[in-house]
Amino acid sequence: MAETWSSSGIDVHLGWRPDTGRPGLADAIRAAIRSGRWQPGATVPSTRALAADLGVARGTVTRVYADLAAEGYLHTLQGAPTRVATAGALPQSAPRPVPREPAPRWDLRPGRPDLTMFPRADWQAATRKALQHAAAADFGYTSLLGAPELRAALAGYLSRSRGVLADPERTVVCCGFSHAVALLSRVLGERGVTETAFENPSLGIYRDIAVANGQRIRPVDVDAHGLRVSELDSPAVVVTAAHQYPMGVALAPERRASLTRWAAKTGAIVIEDDYDGEFRYDRQQVGALQALAPEHVVYAGTASKTLAPALRLAWLVLPRALVEPVRAAMFDSGARPPLIDQLALAELITSGAYDRHVRRARTEYRARRDRLLAALPGTVRPQGIAAGLHLLLMLDGPSSPAETDVLAACRRRSIGIEGLTQWWHGERGPGGVIAGYGAPAGHAFAGATQALVEALWEVTS
Ligand SMILES: Cc1ncc(COP(=O)(O)O)c(C=O)c1O
Repeated sequence: MAETWSSSGIDVHLGWRPDTGRPGLADAIRAAIRSGRWQPGATVPSTRALAADLGVARGTVTRVYADLAAEGYLHTLQGAPTRVATAGALPQSAPRPVPREPAPRWDLRPGRPDLTMFPRADWQAATRKALQHAAAADFGYTSLLGAPELRAALAGYLSRSRGVLADPERTVVCCGFSHAVALLSRVLGERGVTETAFENPSLGIYRDIAVANGQRIRPVDVDAHGLRVSELDSPAVVVTAAHQYPMGVALAPERRASLTRWAAKTGAIVIEDDYDGEFRYDRQQVGALQALAPEHVVYAGTASKTLAPALRLAWLVLPRALVEPVRAAMFDSGARPPLIDQLALAELITSGAYDRHVRRARTEYRARRDRLLAALPGTVRPQGIAAGLHLLLMLDGPSSPAETDVLAACRRRSIGIEGLTQWWHGERGPGGVIAGYGAPAGHAFAGATQALVEALWEVTS
């Protein structure tokens, strides 16, 4: 039994048995469409090609196609290739497209850039160029530390734009900061380090990943100057030094100095999560902590804010002693960032398109931040406004509404937003809401701001 045909120019997999005749062929095509092997909207083989491939009369295929078009499975148009019907037009019994995660009407979820700003044309051009120049060998099992072209491009970019002491040998590409936390937790565990300090508050997901990879978590409080470095007593710590998540403060200069001094003295490893370091608005850029102690600080950056989270591309600049252990952990993790995307990002950086995009995005986010601040009622206290894609509205004053009430008012308006309370480790600190002004598409930003302001008024009056 022939299973795959390619003389039609399109590989089609039907599993049709000739002894089942015309009804059997119709069944086989229906099954291919229902199972998604023939995708909604896809061109199907011409009647001539399929008939030749199957060894049946062309009229047989023509009649089957006509029957399936009448049933709604196929879409035929004079003079155009026959296609599988689009998802919405398929009969009920046919497969529905995989549902997308429902998005809120007004998206103020923190940690997300405006995805409509993704530089599609630049990315397309970079991908084309990367494909043109890639050697055949590049399509093999790629280097565990990442494509050399991207590691070189990142080392140059990070030195120039974030003040990182980077060179390609110690620069590693991974699949997002979450992957980095998993890798580093394992590497630390193998070196006998089983406790990692995290800022309190901080995102639960990274603490959970560290725990899943063998670490115990020690929360260390954050105040107006950032992490309370004097309270550190763990052999490793994760710190969002440039813009603490979620409180938004920058680690004060004297704390930066004492943190790196402490690490050098005790041999501790500092993991610097520089997730939105490119977006600073009011003051000079805060350079990377890593430059103060490159053999004790792991610098971690990500494309999730500057480009898109779905790329799953992030990078580490490692102390030399950790390069080989991370290479081994990368192997064990089984995950590798896709090579073509790595080459495209390298091209984007070296061509200058990445810098141009980041500058454009920075200007846009800064304008949004200003508009949001101007619209907010005086009953909330915005904080962490100097940088990033989110601000925190503290709800800790005597006349502040309760966080649960604000979140409920936001839910009623279908506003996607986050509460602060969930990110405290152990004992709960004050409430607040974290508004991600980066997330909405440009045209929806004014509506999202208005909806948030209305929600705040509703619970304040
Ligand atoms: C504090 C913090 N660190 C890092 C990241 C980046 O994570 P990833 O690279 O896994 O997308 C985010 C994304 O939301 C974040 O909020």
